[in-house]
Amino acid sequence: MTAPSGSTTSSEGSVSLERPAEADNAGRTGSKFVVVANRLPVDLEKLPDGTTRWKRSPGGLVTALEPILRSNQGAWVGWPGVADVDLDPIVEEGLDLYPVRLSAQEVADYYEGFSNATLWPLYHDVIVKPEYRREWWNAYVEVNRRFAEATSAASAEGATVWIQDYQLQLVPKMLRMLRPDLTIGFFLHIPFPPVELFMQMPWRREIVEGLLGADLIGFHLPGGAQNFMYLARRLAGQQTSRGAVGVRSKLGVVQVGFRTVRVGAFPISIDSGQLDEISRRRSIRHRAKQIRKELGGPKYIMLGVDRLDYTKGIDVRLDALYELLEEGRIDPADTVMVQLATPSRERVDSYVQMRGSIEQTVSRINGEYAQVGRPVVHYIHRPIDRDELIAFFVAADLMLVTPLRDGMNLVAKEYVACRSDLGGALLLSEFTGAAAELRQAFLCNPHDLDDVKDKMEAALHQKREDGRRHMRALRRQVLAHDVDRWARSFLDALAKHGVAGSALLPSDAELSE
Ligand code: ADP
Ligand code: F6P
Repeated sequence: MTAPSGSTTSSEGSVSLERPAEADNAGRTGSKFVVVANRLPVDLEKLPDGTTRWKRSPGGLVTALEPILRSNQGAWVGWPGVADVDLDPIVEEGLDLYPVRLSAQEVADYYEGFSNATLWPLYHDVIVKPEYRREWWNAYVEVNRRFAEATSAASAEGATVWIQDYQLQLVPKMLRMLRPDLTIGFFLHIPFPPVELFMQMPWRREIVEGLLGADLIGFHLPGGAQNFMYLARRLAGQQTSRGAVGVRSKLGVVQVGFRTVRVGAFPISIDSGQLDEISRRRSIRHRAKQIRKELGGPKYIMLGVDRLDYTKGIDVRLDALYELLEEGRIDPADTVMVQLATPSRERVDSYVQMRGSIEQTVSRINGEYAQVGRPVVHYIHRPIDRDELIAFFVAADLMLVTPLRDGMNLVAKEYVACRSDLGGALLLSEFTGAAAELRQAFLCNPHDLDDVKDKMEAALHQKREDGRRHMRALRRQVLAHDVDRWARSFLDALAKHGVAGSALLPSDAELSE
């Protein structure tokens, strides 16, 4: 593998990259299909010895989009994950990567600040208090402009551009002003908040107008789409210094002056067929058995797999476990919990505090209930290799997915896809997008600890035949509604209603639940 800018690399967990042929955008020779996201699918990591390596980026967005873009031979515009590095465009297995540079100050203000200490908590039901700082907003505008310019340079005449997530909500409008020839889609990977919460945002009109630059705006659930439609009518139609914008909306359609913007629900998914196939491999089955042995051969393995984020309700499942142990409803001699937690946003205050409190609870549980060499909670604070993760899914008797709020939650779907043996059970928070589809899971209210405890206990002790019946139904849903189908439904709707198709009559078919 060759790293850009002549640096050396180590290979563990890395992807192979080569310098591209000279990029030439004069005369618009860019790509016909461009994905734009805050992060590239790979992060550049600086190692202590000064060398660098590439590793897979964290989070569900990359999990979902990477396979699609690879099969479409497109381009990806994004940040390489470290501050102050200038990288040329790179070609990786047919995928053109266009790195966008962020300074250290921009990482602090745009990424850690406005994206993850303002928008993230606001859009997740203000679980922690969002901070509204003008300097963060200014950086957000500036960085969104840079992304719009980089995307313009990467896009061929008449290309389709698909902008992703809350970090880039101003890009659709900025890009439309630069390149009216492009067909522009936007997809939000996190919940879109209720109107009363969104109205807190000092720059609410700018954000709604930014999104309305797209031809099609996608949300996970119809509720998010409806919240947005209401706001579009209420905010973007207001009188401004430049005169009235004039916005009309009906279900699935917003009329902005002469332009028609479609709005709809497109629940994201995973490459379920691939996970199903990998999880059946003999090596994975063998590793799953080995994991149970390494954990001391417990009767029950409970598993949590998350970015270490306060929205994920890791504290909820630990508190539930603690009380169940205290009440003698779970026996520490035959039950273990494994929590795999990828480090995330480690310099943002609320994340620092949450990590401290979770690690304290893990210690308290082990302090009171572990035996020497037999912890009750196994906590790993680093990303796990994909095959190893699949082996954990195959080994787990109960998957704990307890977010206080989550746009979708791909982990729940990944677990189901890996259970071709029809074993295991899924405890799933009602406050995830996945709960709308995975109705046969043990659904729980993460704000009601007794409910979580009862469902946890019920899931562990369900009859084998009931478990198989539930898992069969869950798998039917996840295998039939995979990420390819999600992308196709969004891109088909975009092709139909994009620049070329915008004269078409509105259709609500693709916008329904
Ligand atoms: P989010 O996008 O908020 O991080 P999702 O559940 O939708 O949440 O997606 C998370 C993705 O990251 C999944 O593909 C999951 O398998 C992966 N992931 C989460 N935790 C880990 C971990 N500890 N090690 C490796 N991959 C992880
Ligand atoms: O889906 C939510 C999301 O923020 C994605 O946009 C992102 O790829 C992922 O979670 C990981 O977050 P971050 O890029 O902040 O590490």
